[in-house]
Amino acid sequence: MIDIDVVHDFSDKESLFQATAAQVVQVLNQSPSKPVTMALSGGSSPARLFELLTRPPYSENMPWGRLAVFWVDERMVPYDHKHSNFALAKKWLLDHVPVNHSRVFPMPTDFPTPEAAAQAYEQTLRKVFPEMAWPRFDLVLLGMGPDGHIASLFPGDPALRDAVSWVTAVPMPGMPPSVPRLTLTLPVLNQARHILALVPGAGKRNAFINASTSSESILPAALLAPQGKIAWLTCFQE
Ligand code: 6PG
Repeated sequence: MIDIDVVHDFSDKESLFQATAAQVVQVLNQSPSKPVTMALSGGSSPARLFELLTRPPYSENMPWGRLAVFWVDERMVPYDHKHSNFALAKKWLLDHVPVNHSRVFPMPTDFPTPEAAAQAYEQTLRKVFPEMAWPRFDLVLLGMGPDGHIASLFPGDPALRDAVSWVTAVPMPGMPPSVPRLTLTLPVLNQARHILALVPGAGKRNAFINASTSSESILPAALLAPQGKIAWLTCFQE
């Protein structure tokens, strides 16, 4: 169940995104690791956050030179496809900041099956986080769907129960776009040093209430049990 003490509600979405951008800068500058690692979600919400990170006062305080960028999940579409989470980050963030592109690790979507792609990304992560039982990202940026999903972990999906893989395939996502997905697993998300979870929009309110008030909630957002720090940033105004 979501701990209400780590929920920060905002009266408007712009305030939510501004506060999130400030927290991204603060978190990445306190993480000791070189390079500092950040895993991005996709969907529609992050675009404004990404855009803010390309501008003062945030851009000048981001540790771009030691930042390594990963993805929380991806749709099995080409990198220039409108549903690509990589394309979203490239358009609104990566094309506008001095990140070292050799430290940008998109999830591979050109494999014959999502299972093979998931295994390939897991091998990439195991090279970045060698000899670790689980990868520990300095920052994981999450969104939440109106059904309470996080990453591409949908309610009732077997992927939610994967306690072994670092990356898994989701052949039948529970929400559009209905293309196979790749996703970090729940244990990996829980290992993050910091999670910032964005929940902007009235359509997410009911799922969020369920996940934050019912101890019996089985929504993926409610199943998150972070070992590190988490902040939920919400705004239920349209
Ligand atoms: C994805 C995202 C997903 C997203 C939620 C919220 O690939 O769809 O990573 O987990 O965070 O679906 O999406 P919106 O930001 O579009 O509401």
